[in-house]
Amino acid sequence: MRIAIFASGSGSNFQAIAQSVQSGQLDVTIACVIYDKKDAYVKERAKQCGIPAYYVGLASFESKQAYEEAILKRLTDEQVDLIVLAGYMKLIGETLLQAYPSRIINIHPSLLPNFPGKSGIKDAFEAGVNQTGVTVHIVDAGMDTGPILKQRAVKIEHTDTLESLEEKIHQVEHVLYTEVIKEIMEGKYHAIRID
Ligand code: GRF
Repeated sequence: MRIAIFASGSGSNFQAIAQSVQSGQLDVTIACVIYDKKDAYVKERAKQCGIPAYYVGLASFESKQAYEEAILKRLTDEQVDLIVLAGYMKLIGETLLQAYPSRIINIHPSLLPNFPGKSGIKDAFEAGVNQTGVTVHIVDAGMDTGPILKQRAVKIEHTDTLESLEEKIHQVEHVLYTEVIKEIMEGKYHAIRID
């Protein structure tokens, strides 16, 4: 299975998946990284791993459709089977959804449907709940709304700060994403099939 990882920022989830591949724990090929912010640190991480990283910036295109068509061309050239969003800060449009039906997944730092959106960790922390977590789901046209594949809870202790909670969430993300990609390959999820 050949995967493409989409990211907009640091890329710690990319790094965790790349390490799982490198250690032999995950038998997939990371065909490429697609990033949409010129200075995204994920670019450096990909370079260090010897994985091609392509910058595609929305502003250089006349429409979201043209932008996604440019991405799709890369994915087709790289024979990508599954798109893995890892901190990619855009909604996926019709062009990619139609080209990869139920073959785009996302990781979100909360127990969806609670705390969707850009600041899932902070929102849970400020709401004063005693647990939050991580969700991996199939992507649809909404924001953090597609069918859930797997979740893992993270306790919020009285002693936690926002920073310590972020740290705990990221640690769980870095394990959970590899688990789910492996299970997709093993055919565990009926909703998502890679031929
Ligand atoms: C992660 O918390 C992920 O759940 C969210 O964006 C963040 C990306 O972090 N969607 P990184 O770029 O992988 O370090």
